[in-house]
Amino acid sequence: MKTIVAPSILSADFNILGEQIKQVHEAGAEYLHIDVMDGKFVPSISFGMPVIKSIRKETKIFFDVHLMIEEPIRYIKEFADCGADLITFHYEAAEGKVQETIDAIKAAGCKVGLSIKPKTPVDVIKPFLKDTDMILVMTVEPGFGGQKYIPESTERITKVRTMITESGRDIDLEVDGGINSETFETVKKAGANVLVAGSAVFKGDIAANVKSLL
Ligand code: DX5
Ligand code: ZN
Repeated sequence: MKTIVAPSILSADFNILGEQIKQVHEAGAEYLHIDVMDGKFVPSISFGMPVIKSIRKETKIFFDVHLMIEEPIRYIKEFADCGADLITFHYEAAEGKVQETIDAIKAAGCKVGLSIKPKTPVDVIKPFLKDTDMILVMTVEPGFGGQKYIPESTERITKVRTMITESGRDIDLEVDGGINSETFETVKKAGANVLVAGSAVFKGDIAANVKSLL
């Protein structure tokens, strides 16, 4: 299984965002992880459509949009229109409307990602595996960059990888939060293949950081 590094622009320098995206892409990152926060599902507010639209004009890198917003179904079409390749939403933010949200993402022509927070039982994703392209297992409580990897996550990643294997489908397993040169091998061994890294990429020499993770 191929390992993909997905730099999270939450930790980028927004004053030179375009330049930094170019650097991570050229260094070998295949996905760009785009964290959208609404100040409600998570305490922070990050950025939204205008930023995504504007960077889309400058790069062909795969846009991995991570929605940390309540009732994501309200905005699927808009995120698709501004250039998302894959849209991940939270199970916890879409209760009762998970299938509907998946269908909306597909109808908008994007790949589907479903995410669970650290305290959500992993089994909740099972009924939706038939329709998802990626499962995102949060390895910190969503909301901020630069947090520490929650050690209990490792077992959760293993469980989700087993569920994916049993489904017989080709589904990516993404991890997000506290991924750095120390935790990288652990999550890979447990079965993750798309590794988000914010501070581990954007602090210091960006290109060198991407290359060393890869
Ligand atoms: C956290 C975000 C992450 C964040 C990761 O809520 O979903 O994508 O940017 O940051 P690091 O890699 O610094 O933990
Ligand atoms: Zn994220």
